[in-house]
Amino acid sequence: MAKPSGPQGEESAIARHVALIMDGNGRWAKRRGFPRTFGHRAGVTALKRTVEAAPTLGIEWLTVFGFSTENWSRPPAEVAELMSLLKHYVDSDLERLEREGVRVHVIGRREGLSADILEVIERAESRTRANDRFHLQVAFNYGGRADIADAARRYARALAAGEISDEGDPEAAFSGFLSTAEAPPVDLIVRTSGERRLSNFLLWEAAYAELVFQDVLWPDYGAEPLRAAVEEFKARERRYGRAEADDVLAAG
Ligand code: FPP
Repeated sequence: MAKPSGPQGEESAIARHVALIMDGNGRWAKRRGFPRTFGHRAGVTALKRTVEAAPTLGIEWLTVFGFSTENWSRPPAEVAELMSLLKHYVDSDLERLEREGVRVHVIGRREGLSADILEVIERAESRTRANDRFHLQVAFNYGGRADIADAARRYARALAAGEISDEGDPEAAFSGFLSTAEAPPVDLIVRTSGERRLSNFLLWEAAYAELVFQDVLWPDYGAEPLRAAVEEFKARERRYGRAEADDVLAAG
């Protein structure tokens, strides 16, 4: 069921749900004179380090942008490499994830994915279904607009079928149809490599998230940069559109 995405939880300084745009693999490889695919492979190693570090920082949910709906326009060889990385990650790490109580969720459109990728996704989700110590949500063939559009369609169909009512809080009702409906509100979105864009990631969910941009290229990521991002989050004041009474008087 959807969690409310509005003002709540501001008393908590813990970034419970962190989302990562893992950017900079290509530049990391290029600087070393290697093909971009080399950077993506190093990116998988960085992802493993980061998943291991996250629970030690109080993070309970980690959402990572593995493959976007826009990534299909990259050269076919690179698309094939990005696809195979998910398989490589699951094949090499699923046993550990399972053992360490990590539940894997995969969000994004399943249409367009090949049978072997669908099998990998299904295996990762089903083998970890009983876990709840930590949640790793992989956005794969994901786009924020596509997710909202797909949710709108499902919402309209459910309404037309009389399965839901059009009364009550519309935001809570609608967000229950997003692919992130099971996850708590996103507290912090981090983008690496110095780029400062959301690039169609978690558009609805970003409404009250803090944004942190770090200059580190994704393959160099791990415990230390993640700790720095969480520290920056703790130093931010989350207001959800409100103003403190003292500030209003001072301004007037
Ligand atoms: C952006 O770097 C990164 C990606 C498009 C893919 C991210 C994938 C991984 C980190 C591998 C792990 C993924 C899964 C699903 C296990 P870029 O290629 O845009 O880098 P650039 O901006 O330097 O060119």
